[in-house]
Amino acid sequence: MCGIVGYLGARSPVPLLVDGLRRLEYRGYDSAGIVVPVNGRLEIVKAEGKLDRLVEVLQGRELAGVYGLGHTRWATHGIPSQRNAHPLLDAKGRLAVIHNGIIENFVSLKKRLAGEGWDFVSDTDTEVIANLVSSHFDGDLRVAVERTVAELEGMYAFAVLALESSEPEIVGARSGPPLVLGRGDGEQFLASDPTALLAHTREVVFLENGDLARLTAGGYEVWNSSGEPVERPIVRLNWDPVQSEKGGFKHFMLKEIHDQPQALQDTFAGRVDFESGEVGFDALELTSQEVAAIDRIHLLACGTSWHAALVGKFMLEELTGIPVEVDYGSEYRYRDPLVREGDLAVGISQSGETADTISAMEAAAQRGAKLAAICNVVGSQVTRLADGVLYTHAGPEIGVASTKAFTTQLVALYMLGLYLRQRLGRPVENALLADLAHLPQAVAGVVAGERDFEELAGHFFEASDFLYIGRGANYPIALEGALKLKEISYIHAEGYPAGEMKHGPIALIDKSLPVVAIATGERVFDKVLSNMQEVRARDGIVLAVTDRDAEALGGGADHVIRVPRVSELLQPIINVVPLQLFAYFVAVRRGADVDQPRNLAKSVTVE
Ligand code: G6P
Repeated sequence: MCGIVGYLGARSPVPLLVDGLRRLEYRGYDSAGIVVPVNGRLEIVKAEGKLDRLVEVLQGRELAGVYGLGHTRWATHGIPSQRNAHPLLDAKGRLAVIHNGIIENFVSLKKRLAGEGWDFVSDTDTEVIANLVSSHFDGDLRVAVERTVAELEGMYAFAVLALESSEPEIVGARSGPPLVLGRGDGEQFLASDPTALLAHTREVVFLENGDLARLTAGGYEVWNSSGEPVERPIVRLNWDPVQSEKGGFKHFMLKEIHDQPQALQDTFAGRVDFESGEVGFDALELTSQEVAAIDRIHLLACGTSWHAALVGKFMLEELTGIPVEVDYGSEYRYRDPLVREGDLAVGISQSGETADTISAMEAAAQRGAKLAAICNVVGSQVTRLADGVLYTHAGPEIGVASTKAFTTQLVALYMLGLYLRQRLGRPVENALLADLAHLPQAVAGVVAGERDFEELAGHFFEASDFLYIGRGANYPIALEGALKLKEISYIHAEGYPAGEMKHGPIALIDKSLPVVAIATGERVFDKVLSNMQEVRARDGIVLAVTDRDAEALGGGADHVIRVPRVSELLQPIINVVPLQLFAYFVAVRRGADVDQPRNLAKSVTVE
């Protein structure tokens, strides 16, 4: 949803801005641009399309300033084009703005400003910010921005620089989408996400909603929404910058699939005592009384994280006996959810900045729920909103299609179940823990068979539709497998509960429709097998993900993907991995842009 970056210091800004944008490109890649004040002029370079286009345009241009701003866009208002690319200037050419978010009252503001003689050249809502700041600017940029935000409605993180400032300065404002400051040695940074800063500093400051920040050569200052100077805590990130590199893999997605054994291990390490069965978290503490008072657990999420929530329902209900409701953030926030005082609402979000998930969590909190977050990004908005946080420790996930964030969310949900169970005075038996310890090795085993998926993809990359089926906790895995395929290969794919196939999708089956069936465990194995036979009886092609050998399937599958067996509640974590690899290799075979699929963005900070 647009990435913004700013730099002010002694180094040449352009390479730093481009490097920051490279790391933020997952947020949007419709266009990119930078601005650098040079000799009393605002030098702006923009290009439609991906960052590489901007890099080409920048080649051979000397832009020797000391500060600047950069932007990578995911279009909301106005088509992707050079004209609508950021940075955007005010009509007088005095200042430049980069923006992530949506200004909801931009139509009325634009009309008013146009009536006052301010010209507009783009279709964006951002240009309204540029002209508004300029209309309020008489030498003090911070005050001009303060007056501007008082008139804005919507969600935004933006940054401004102006030619007439008395010294080099960047002013940023946040209301909704994230904005992070980075403190280097004699240099200051500002970005949408700390990954843009990791190569330069690990000391970051997450701005709160309503904050304004001003960066100068001397440091940074922050003011809250009442205009009072405030100190925001400095957070030291322990993410290794190398984790944000491809590390020899062709795509981030493949690297992140390979990261999973370690990421799963990191998620439970130090939190589960495998001898005593004790489960504890640093940043989440619920008393036995609080847990006993939970009438219902509400899991709130979007996208892949919503699929994690669907699996989490099985885990939490079985481990705790507490009923669990799962909702899309975008649905929950606009209905009137039934929440009892003391219920537990858990927002699940890789990025911690998905607008719909945040609003759903707020809706639950307003109705008296206690809030927890399962999140990958330290200091992000959902973690600040929640009373307690369970970090997934997956490390930076750059590929737009989520992989390791998903499997670590599942481990986190499982551990949450164990934790609540313990607080309810129920034993955490060895059997519940044994397979958790074994998970990283089991997943490593699946990943090691990567070549098989490459070969399998060779048979199927030309299919135009896919059906994914599963039952119980593997039904959400069917949904996730289908989502992975459609996100990165643009093949239409649908996930369905295997038992529901006969109520509709069976009509689609013929020899051109591959069906991916998840047939593991004991509980519903025979039932899924029957569903596979129903497909075969209608000439459909079955790819089975199974923990049995081909014979056990009784000829029910054309292709068998064998996975290691673990307990039924943890099995979905294994089962999704072959589906990630399959989607990846199909997309590669189709020549698709795996890490940056069209129209998508990794963090969705708008409704
Ligand atoms: C976007 C991404 C998905 C992600 C979803 C929720 O749609 O493309 O991969 O699952 O947002 O993101 P979150 O950061 O809240 O988990």
